[in-house]
Amino acid sequence: MHRILPAPTVEIDTDDAYHNTRQARGVRPWLIVNMISSADGAMTIDGVSGGLASPGDKDVFGTLRTLPDVILVGAGTAIAEDYNPPSSSVSVRARRLGQGAWPVARVAVVSNSLSLDPTARLFGSRDSRPIVITSQSSDGDRRDRLAEVADIVVAGEDRVDLGAALESLAGIGASVVLCEGGPSLNAQLVAADLVDEMCISLSPMIVGGDARRIVHGAALEVPAQMELRHVLTEDHYLFLRYTVSREVMD
Ligand SMILES: NC(=O)c1ccc[n+]([C@@H]2O[C@H](COP(=O)([O-])OP(=O)(O)OC[C@H]3O[C@@H](n4cnc5c(N)ncnc54)[C@H](OP(=O)(O)O)[C@@H]3O)[C@@H](O)[C@H]2O)c1
Repeated sequence: MHRILPAPTVEIDTDDAYHNTRQARGVRPWLIVNMISSADGAMTIDGVSGGLASPGDKDVFGTLRTLPDVILVGAGTAIAEDYNPPSSSVSVRARRLGQGAWPVARVAVVSNSLSLDPTARLFGSRDSRPIVITSQSSDGDRRDRLAEVADIVVAGEDRVDLGAALESLAGIGASVVLCEGGPSLNAQLVAADLVDEMCISLSPMIVGGDARRIVHGAALEVPAQMELRHVLTEDHYLFLRYTVSREVMD
């Protein structure tokens, strides 16, 4: 892996490249979004993102997973990608524990329908108990069934209020949250101005077809502006790290 921005160009370890200081933003955690896209903007091949990836992308994906307290994901992605709970090496666990964090990040799935399978591998983690974030309107029986394998967070009446959900995650000790998609969850987070950092892996592929982009929802009235923090490259892939610009940073 080489860093080509900021100068000078150097060979770099991904851990060092992504290991910035991130702090909660008031009542809510710092929110990173990490997604991969083809050069022509597709976020999947045959309905999943794996075909776009490379060893370098897997390295970045794994490195980013060592940083947050919670990994946030939409139910569509958790099901489509048969979500895997995160694991940590001994050294990462030691580092996290030394920083007062949980040894491994917890996964939080956002769902209103609660049509999640409690026997899915996501819910079989021995390391960390997953979280299901839902609204008051969701089905009580399904909620009870999932409560056997996950902690349930209720935020919002008809739909999950994502701002309130993030505040609830802060309430259980999360100061950094990593959102791994999908595009409809990302769109709501961007629209609500809840995203602080965007990590995009650009795959050197042209996919064509009608795959959606990494943010898919209503157009923003005003496009969110970002600042480029670094550019890494390996095997013709680009790994871009942006922070979202705000006039007043707190
Ligand atoms: N390229 C990449 O890096 C990448 C990354 C992740 C995913 N993906 C791809 O993205 C696709 C899935 O994305 P998607 O946009 O269809 O789905 P998604 O954003 O992962 O999940 C959407 C689902 O999340 C729940 N949800 C989202 N916002 C909610 C809210 N405010 N309140 C309540 N529930 C809410 C709903 O679940 P319920 O229907 O259960 O209520 C909704 O149907 C898959 O093809 C996956 O492979 C690609």
